[in-house]
Amino acid sequence: MHRYRESDGPPVVARPIGRIRRHNRGLTRREEPAGRMIPPGRKPGYPLYMLADDRPATWSHELLRSPHTTADKAGRVRAMFNAIAPTYERVNRVFSFGRDAAWRRDAVRLARLTGTERVLDVACGTGDLARAFLAGGVARVTGLDFAHEMLVRAARGGGGATWCEGDALELPFASGSFDVVSCAFGIRNFQDLRAGLGECFRVLAPGGRLVILEFSRPAGRFARWFTELYTARVMPRLATWMSGDRTGAYRYLPSSVVTFPGADAVAQELRAAGFSRVELHPRTLGVVTIYVAWNIP
Ligand SMILES: C[S@@+](CC[C@H](N)C(=O)[O-])C[C@H]1O[C@@H](n2cnc3c(N)ncnc32)[C@H](O)[C@@H]1O
Repeated sequence: MHRYRESDGPPVVARPIGRIRRHNRGLTRREEPAGRMIPPGRKPGYPLYMLADDRPATWSHELLRSPHTTADKAGRVRAMFNAIAPTYERVNRVFSFGRDAAWRRDAVRLARLTGTERVLDVACGTGDLARAFLAGGVARVTGLDFAHEMLVRAARGGGGATWCEGDALELPFASGSFDVVSCAFGIRNFQDLRAGLGECFRVLAPGGRLVILEFSRPAGRFARWFTELYTARVMPRLATWMSGDRTGAYRYLPSSVVTFPGADAVAQELRAAGFSRVELHPRTLGVVTIYVAWNIP
């Protein structure tokens, strides 16, 4: 796998609005759509994407027992987000009861901006968090994601950010290029959490901070029982029905949350990646946690 080095030449920065710069070396074109398939029911569903060896990129019950150790997790995740991109934002709004926008605003506030920062939003998806940074007064925001269809929606949303197609595990930027790196609901999807956090640390300048927004499991027993009932039983059925999903995306979501390291373990990983100060800010009974990790030399 090619990893970006300073000797590769100047980093990619500043693309015109609406243009997407591709940096998906190492990702196969054969993960692109293999054709639109119409599922049973009234409306056409999402296209079904194929893996490199022509197997459909869906999440079986067996894979969902341990999604983070699935060997081709990255390919499946990328195919899944390409497929659900058209309704991704709408489904988020409905099933988080609008809380997702408030969580992103909180993440921006906790980045303690002065307005002069260079911000990189890793796993930016359709660009919601990148746009929240722009709304927070930052002028230089770059969004990076490896799912082309998500980025197409991000670029359509405009707002003045630069959009870059690439892999979070081999960021196409020189070391120390950014003052703030953010990642909302992205780290859980990485093939290799440690490598992803290491890349975030590498591209941060001294004094910079990484702001992560991620699902976590509430500490209280009732809150945990209630949220797991909702996310494992109610939401997957309704979200799959609403979206016409064929990839298993909304079964992957709860299973990838309960099998992901807890908030304290994520904090440990951040320290192991080199961050000297790590703050945890639970939100909505601990359903999500905002982590702020500082690169203090
Ligand atoms: C749940 S979405 C979150 C999108 C956005 N940050 C938000 O808050 O709505 C996760 C995103 O992570 C991206 N992603 C996962 N692994 C990635 C990787 N290794 N490199 C780049 N993007 C990745 C997916 O393509 C997807 O768009």
